[in-house]
Amino acid sequence: MKIAVVGTGYVGLVTATCLAELGHSVIGMDKDEAKIRIILSGRAPFYEPGLDELLASNLKKGHLRFSSDQAEAIRAAEVIFVCVGTPPQEDGSADMSQIEEVARMIAENLNGYKLVVEKSTVPVKTSFWIKRVMSSFKKSEHPFDVASNPEFLREGSGVGDFMSPDRVIIGVETERARDLLVRIYERFKDRIVITNIDTAELVKHASNSFLALKISFINMIADLCERTDADVEMVARGMGLDPRIGGSFLKAGLGYGGSCFPKDVKALAKIGSELGVDMTLLRDVDAINDDRIRIFMEKIRRALWILKGKTVGILGLAFKPETDDIREAPSIKVIRELLKQGAFLRLYDPKAASNMKELFPEDSQAVSYVASPYQAAQDAHILLILTEWEEFRTLDLARVKTLMANPILIDGRNVFDPAAVRALGFEYASIGRK
Ligand code: UDX
Repeated sequence: MKIAVVGTGYVGLVTATCLAELGHSVIGMDKDEAKIRIILSGRAPFYEPGLDELLASNLKKGHLRFSSDQAEAIRAAEVIFVCVGTPPQEDGSADMSQIEEVARMIAENLNGYKLVVEKSTVPVKTSFWIKRVMSSFKKSEHPFDVASNPEFLREGSGVGDFMSPDRVIIGVETERARDLLVRIYERFKDRIVITNIDTAELVKHASNSFLALKISFINMIADLCERTDADVEMVARGMGLDPRIGGSFLKAGLGYGGSCFPKDVKALAKIGSELGVDMTLLRDVDAINDDRIRIFMEKIRRALWILKGKTVGILGLAFKPETDDIREAPSIKVIRELLKQGAFLRLYDPKAASNMKELFPEDSQAVSYVASPYQAAQDAHILLILTEWEEFRTLDLARVKTLMANPILIDGRNVFDPAAVRALGFEYASIGRK
């Protein structure tokens, strides 16, 4: 069975490569010819652990191809996975223009039956619109189906999440579409859940919104802990021992970023409101998350009072560890606020620095990028942890202290043990802990 994957971003490239790894013949495509050239050299245009190796090996096997000629790829395939972006718009709704463009392109190249599979996270009822667009633009009488097969890939563990899924949700409305997708995911047949299309679309938005809710919940509890002698890490541990709650996604800190949670929570709240449902709960999830930056900046001001002219070392720029992605990263808002206050920044991240340079280019004094955490600490009046990269846990803090102008450490991801850091002579603040 020939499969096409439209879009070679964090979702599309992992999907194309892993479908090839499952033994399918796959053609990935993207309008961006430069991206295709990088991919054809066996490298992903972004950091994703394990992806380069899998990409190179499947390119070599010959059943994984990439092209920027989208029409050719569409015509060659029977099943088309749509993995293009659905970025947030000002009003919180998802921008569906890329999905609509792909639907039109498939309709114009309908040289036989096609199954169009929504892989991107899309608002419920999207399949209705795809069907409408394709029916009005199609140039032939060939039949087609639409299906929803949402991805549950986390950046930094995308390959593992695809190759050992908790569940494969298949939202279909015909047996032909169901049979094709069951064949594609044959290896995971014990984890396939067949639903209608609306249900599958909603599983994705509901799952991401629930995970975001857990994070905002523990951050609300962290705010409570800061006004008592409670320790949010211990509260999370005590809660998580209840299997009905579970310990994951209860890490208090700077809140969630990335290309999914912020967008999905807003999109679901908007969809629900438009359908007449009270979505206050999700708006509060969003508001609690946004408030993390104000609270973190308060900690910095409490430590330094005046930020103007101060040197601030920043460890961690990516929205989370094990990725170079800075989309909606809390670091962006912190950096913007610090620059507004006239601080001088020394930025370090093992993977995401080049992406951040596009937003905040290096300039003489205010913004410099350094090659190690120790260089970020050099002459700094304060050091901030914004992303919990593993390498920060094993920092030689005694050495960091000798490098700093002031031994002040504000830990936005609760990486360190407060007593141990203070014993070294640091003034230390973190989230939801004394
Ligand atoms: C998420 C979902 O996990 C994944 O299933 C979906 O397919 C895409 O969206 P991703 O956005 O890549 O994946 O990262 P994730 O690991 O979920 O973290 C999202 C954000 O939440 C990060 O900014 C992370 O720092 C933050 N987070 C996560 C917390 O603040 N606390 C936690 O306990 C967990």
